[in-house]
This record gives sequence, structure tokens and C-alpha cells, in this order.
Amino acid sequence: MSAFDTVIRLVYLAAATCFVLGLHLMNSPVTARRGNLLSAAGMVGGVVAAATVLVRAQSVSMTARIVLAAGAAFGAGLGLLAARRVKMTAMPQLVSLFNAVGGGAAALVGVHDFVRSGALSAQVSIPLAVDVLIGAVTLAGSLIASGKLQGWIPGRPILVSGGRATTVALVVATLTAAVLLGAGFGGTATLAVLALGALAFGVVMVLPIGGADMPVVISLLNAFTGTAVAMAGFVIGNTVLITAGALVGASGAILTRLMADAMNRSIGAIIVGGFGTGDSATPVAAGPDARIRSLSADDAAIQLAYAAKVAVVPGYGLAAAQAQHELAELAELLESRGVEVSYAVHPVAGRMPGHMNVLLAEAGVPYGQLKEMDQINPEFGQVDVALVVGANDVTNPAARRPGTAISGMPILDVDRAKSVIVIKRSMGHGYAGIDNELYTDPKTGMYFADAKKALTGLTAAVKVLVG
Ligand code: TAP
Repeated sequence: MSAFDTVIRLVYLAAATCFVLGLHLMNSPVTARRGNLLSAAGMVGGVVAAATVLVRAQSVSMTARIVLAAGAAFGAGLGLLAARRVKMTAMPQLVSLFNAVGGGAAALVGVHDFVRSGALSAQVSIPLAVDVLIGAVTLAGSLIASGKLQGWIPGRPILVSGGRATTVALVVATLTAAVLLGAGFGGTATLAVLALGALAFGVVMVLPIGGADMPVVISLLNAFTGTAVAMAGFVIGNTVLITAGALVGASGAILTRLMADAMNRSIGAIIVGGFGTGDSATPVAAGPDARIRSLSADDAAIQLAYAAKVAVVPGYGLAAAQAQHELAELAELLESRGVEVSYAVHPVAGRMPGHMNVLLAEAGVPYGQLKEMDQINPEFGQVDVALVVGANDVTNPAARRPGTAISGMPILDVDRAKSVIVIKRSMGHGYAGIDNELYTDPKTGMYFADAKKALTGLTAAVKVLVG
């Protein structure tokens, strides 16, 4: 082995170490930022090393080098721009697009290798078939998921004509082509059936999935991306690609499992399609006399200022209004009066995993005040005021009944608190698109306003009240 090869291998090893340590640091919000930086440094090292190998290779023509350099510069520029410009609330769409790019690139590596080498060795044929299969499913599925989140495709479940039969036929054709290629049989036509079948399956897999279940799907597609990238690493014999892909695949799979458990969904049901398809038009169980009680800032301030225990329930609306600092200010004021304040964080509140944790950390809320769903739910009975700020689906008691778009999803038991104040702008729906019967509960008061304005108004009203 030449000295150059040794250096490259050492850089790959260092990059892989950075990924592992980076993931470990992401275990806690305190060290997550450092973990992110370390992983990014590892990625830069890996990319630079791989590019150096390509540039030095005799077989790579000058034209190919120019195309590579232009592609890398264009991709890096676009990624940087997207990451800097995107709003926090649109992050899931961006993650989904990145998944599409990763899966698509991995599938193209497989297709290129097949076309270039023609006959495949047994060592390469299996990873290549798996690479194209998973990469193509991820590319198509992630584009659909991103379109749904962005609102370009309706977020409601879209049922494909022929439903299950179409899915089963696609699965059979695609898997047969994958097995043939993996076993070393089949030519370009088999590869085309595999790639096109997997693309079509990606579409029919994601289209029937309802809005509220989309986070689980994105996390699953993220795990798919990692697996496809690892397989591409086997195809071209690149160790850092194998390591990075395996880490993304494994961590994505763990996250998917945790999120599916948090929403009481089965991962198997996602892959065969058709969950989250409850009837979003199912009427709420509030009787005909159900009334909405509107609150003013002064009414809400009295309840909060004289409470012993307040549980804040943050949701997507808090992020949309960027009202985390105003929320922290109100909480500090209440605490200075001896009110015990905690934050009830639902695992899928907001639009991405950990969304509320990031937001509250940004406002300097101490981690000790954050309570996970399992921890806070038994305590809601002793809470004097549950202050719901821009959260909707994660508090909707309709989840406890069958037949709704969120049936079975564990919720924060806000309706068990002694009283509830909900801050939102209107009676508008949440992500799942259904009515929330918490709003017609007699102990709930609705404070209709933008979260930022409402919280500023509440803080001012509490100050006036207590002098
Ligand atoms: P949602 O159910 O989406 O409800 C958010 C509420 O915020 C809306 O009803 C909206 O009502 C209100 N709102 C919007 N802008 C506001 C503003 N400026 N000021 C005050 N309120 C505002 O949110 P959630 O309870 O956090 O639940 C999250 C949902 O998103 C779940 O269904 C979940 O499955 C889904 N989801 C989650 C993720 C992850 S990983 N967290 C990813 C994708 C989807 P008004 O319009 O009346 O103000």
C-alpha cells in the first residue's frame, strides 16, 4: 500500500470516528451542537479525501474531473443556501429533500456500476440490488413526503386506485427483479424493472399516509437513505460510505421505532401503506350545546398569577410565531411569584423530532423544567392551569376514540388539568386537519391571538395585576 493510500485510509478512519462521537454527543441537548460540528468536520474530511482519490486517478478524464468539480460546487452551494434560508418550520421538508438526494445518488451509483461493469461478481450483485431497490424507493417516497409537507400535494391520505392490489403487484415485480439481479442473473431490462418498480412503490407507499403520521415516514425514509448509501459503499468499495450509511441507517431506524411507539403506530403498517387514513371528517364528540369560551388577556392573567402549578404545552404555533422568548419571560415572571412552571413536551409536537426542545433551549428554558409525555401525564390532575401555546393535535382527546385521523396516538392529557387556557389565532385545525374537542370543554378558555402578541399581552397583564 502506498503512503497516499495509508493517509486516505487514516482520514476515512478519523471521519468515521467523528461520526460516532458526534452521534454520541447528540444524546443531550447540552452537547448536541458540538456533536453536529464534529460530524460535519468528519463529513468534510471524508468528502475531501474521496475527491482527492478521484482527482489523482488515471482513469478519470479531464472532462469527468470538471463535471465532478462543478457538481460538487453546485451541490454544496445549493445545500448551504437551503440550510441557511429555510425557516425552522420548513425543516422537515428540507430533511425529506436531503433524503431524496441521498437515496437517488446511492441508486445512481448502483445503476452506473451495473451499466459500466456488465457482469457482476457475487460480492457486488447483492449490495447493488439492495442499493437500487432502497435508493429508488427513498427518492420517490421522499419527494412525495416533501411535496405533502410543503402543500404542493394534498396532505390528506390519497388512496391509489387499485389500492392494496397495486401495491402487492409492484412489490412482487420489484422484489423478483431484485432477487434475480442479486443472484447474478438478468440484464438491463431487469435493472429497469427494479428501478422503475421501486420508484412507483415509493410513490404508492407515501401517498396514502395521513399528515399526522408523516414524521414517522420521514424518519423511516431517512433510515432507508442510510441503508442505500451503505450498500453503495459496498458496491464501490468505499469504507467511509459504508460507515456513514450504516450509522444513518441504524440511528434512523431507532428514531423511527421511538416515534412510531410515541404515536402508537406499527412500522409494518407504514410500509404496506394505509395508516393514518382515519376519517378526518368524523364529527367531534362535543354535544350540540358545546360552546367556545373566549378569554381576554386579563382573564387569563388572573388564572395564571394565582395558580400554584402551571404546565405549559408548546406546539407548532409557538414555533410559527417565534414566541419562545416571550413564553420564557412569562414563565420567569410566574416563577418569581412562586408558581411552579413546567413544560409538557410531546414527542411529535411541532414539525420535526425535538422541535420544541430546540425552541425552548434557544430561549434559555432550563432542561430540568421540560417533562416528557409519560412523566407529565400522571401529573395533569394536580395542574391548576394548562397553558396550551399553539399546540392542537397533541392535545386532542379525539385520539382516544377510534375512527379519527389521530386515533391511537398518545396525547398530552391536558383535559385532566383543573383549567385550560389555549392560545391560538382561530378555531383553525392542526396538522391532522380535524376539530379539537378540548376547545369545547367547559373548563377551557380560548385566548385568540398570535402567540407572540398573546404572550406579551399576558406578561403585561400579570405585571399590572401583581403591581
Ligand atoms: P398542530 O396540531 O399542527 O397545531 C398547531 C396550531 O398552531 C394550529 O391549530 C394553529 O391554529 C396554531 N398556530 C399557528 N400559527 C400560530 C401563531 N402564529 N400563533 C398562535 N397559534 C398558531 O401542532 P402540534 O399540536 O404541535 O402537533 C404537531 C402535528 O404536526 C402533529 O399532528 C404531528 O403528527 C405533525 N407533525 C409533526 C412532526 C414532528 S416530527 N414533530 C413532523 C410533521 C408533522 P390557528 O391557525 O388557529 O392559529
